[in-house]
Amino acid sequence: MAALRTGVFRLAVSTMHCRPGVFRKYSAGPLYQYILVDRKGHNQNVGFIQLNRTKALNALSDGLMAEINQALDVFEADPQIGAIVITGSEKAFAAGADIKEMQNRTFQECYGGSFLSHWNRISTLKKPVVAAVNGFALGGGCELAMMCDIIYAGEKAQFGQPEILIGTIPGAGGTQRLTRAVGKSLAMEMILTGDRINAQEAKEAGLVSRVYPVDKVVDEAITCGEKIANNSKIIVSMAKEAVNGAFELSLSEGNRLEKRLFHSTFATDDRKEGMTAFLEKRKANFNDQ
Ligand code: CAA
Repeated sequence: MAALRTGVFRLAVSTMHCRPGVFRKYSAGPLYQYILVDRKGHNQNVGFIQLNRTKALNALSDGLMAEINQALDVFEADPQIGAIVITGSEKAFAAGADIKEMQNRTFQECYGGSFLSHWNRISTLKKPVVAAVNGFALGGGCELAMMCDIIYAGEKAQFGQPEILIGTIPGAGGTQRLTRAVGKSLAMEMILTGDRINAQEAKEAGLVSRVYPVDKVVDEAITCGEKIANNSKIIVSMAKEAVNGAFELSLSEGNRLEKRLFHSTFATDDRKEGMTAFLEKRKANFNDQ
């Protein structure tokens, strides 16, 4: 992992063309064709992934999803990175799974090959992910955003699960995560009609936490990522695990998990440092231990 890491981030130089349509931001490391990968923030501690199939509205092809997973693995293994931001273009965060790729797939191929099973890497990360959504977040695009921990939306963002209009249903968690986020009635309405909601409606329904002007949303997501990344990474992971417990567990089980994790913070240097710094009226200096 260390080799991978230093390979990716050894020399930050401007984006270079390697072969037509293939880009990398650094002089060494993985080549990415469908995404742009960078580090952001004053301390360069926010991993940044931008979907880059602009002409296809960032339709989530197998190749694009494989690259997202690859970049996430690199950031997850990098001790400097404390949060990740994922975004698309102004027109589309992502317009869903790639319909051209899916058109001729058979049931046997989908079932036998566990189609979409590799899509949930984001939801298994220990590090928090902030989605900065402009434009369309439809089908798999909405599902990808919902796998993130926080969603910020640009004013013109539109969210929807239009699979019903092409004869299928959400297959990457849409029926589950949307229902948990916005409640049964709105989730049913969106999934059964294919109708979209705008950014303000998404905010009112609790799908997104904040709405910003289109040209501000990515910077705001990075600022949020920086705030998270400047906290203790180990404590952040525990907090994330505890919140996610709320989606899986009963109240008593969830509270038990929370208590165990809360007690576990007392096994860390950073809990001691945080409380000591408060009492000494200075800024905490976390070492992620
Ligand atoms: N897959 C493949 N290509 C797509 C795509 C998708 N999901 N969405 C858009 N594109 C392509 C279009 O085919 C078009 O390509 P060409 O120029 O080569 O024809 C290009 O992107 C631009 O799209 P439009 O011309 O349609 O742009 P528009 O502005 O008129 O409409 C849109 C935008 C409303 C998003 C429309 O493109 C659309 O409805 N896209 C499909 C949305 C959808 O159904 N998503 C769900 C997919 S299924 C899924 O995601 C399953 C799952 O749960 C994982």
